[in-house]
Amino acid sequence: MKTHTRQKFVVGNWKMHTTALEAEKLARGVIDGLGVADDLTIILCPPFPYLALVGGVLEGSRVALGAQNMYPEAEGAFTGEVSPTMLLDLGCRYVILGHSERRHKLGESDHFTNQKVVCAVAAELDVILCVGETLKQRQAKQTEAVLDRQLSTGLAGVAGEALSRLSIAYEPVWAIGNEEHHASPQQAHDAHLLIRRQLSRICGETWAQKLPVQYGGSVQPENASAFLSQPGVDGVLIGGASLKAEEFLAIIHAAIAEPLANSRRSKVLDVA
Ligand code: PGA
Repeated sequence: MKTHTRQKFVVGNWKMHTTALEAEKLARGVIDGLGVADDLTIILCPPFPYLALVGGVLEGSRVALGAQNMYPEAEGAFTGEVSPTMLLDLGCRYVILGHSERRHKLGESDHFTNQKVVCAVAAELDVILCVGETLKQRQAKQTEAVLDRQLSTGLAGVAGEALSRLSIAYEPVWAIGNEEHHASPQQAHDAHLLIRRQLSRICGETWAQKLPVQYGGSVQPENASAFLSQPGVDGVLIGGASLKAEEFLAIIHAAIAEPLANSRRSKVLDVA
């Protein structure tokens, strides 16, 4: 079987944090400390109001700009919402969709998430689609069913080359921003394997091997290598630790140190 080297990500999701001044300082801190970052895809996702500001700081650097959400229409009477056209206008290349905070705190459905995915891809934005189970669902042994539902509904209507705009982020809800419950690297590994099996059924084996699957949930400089060295983990989506330049940079350096594990991983998975 053919082997694929998947894109490797380190993504900073700033959520609803920072002032304008802090956002500018943080983005500059990341760029200044970056050095040579190999083939790593590094993305900063500031809050909407600072996209232009942070985009200006990132200009000419190897760090891409991403948004944390969008509304699935190009324009219209949708008070308070932000369209893919606007994101592109502000220099975004990526958008995070289906984050658990949107699903669980704002009540967004799999179907609505799917509308966003379809619209973003059509607008030529690259999508990071987040999936993950709650603690209750994990304890009730529903993880597989939840991931399957989020992936099959989330990706409905996205096929062929449109899939090249996609990466998946596995974020167990119980491990996000959580001091008490951390997922173990083994749990991340197992869930990533499961996701790739489901992707194979949904999109076919070739795309399942091509699509990067990132891990997110309390990733810190201290544990980043343990996650990044797991076969099938193609990067990390960072919340809290992306708000301090030195911590985010430490995670980037951990990801740079993993290329060998990555190429071994691709081969191992492809013959599995
Ligand atoms: P965390 O957030 O790193 O603070 O757990 C991750 C995320 O929600 O994307």
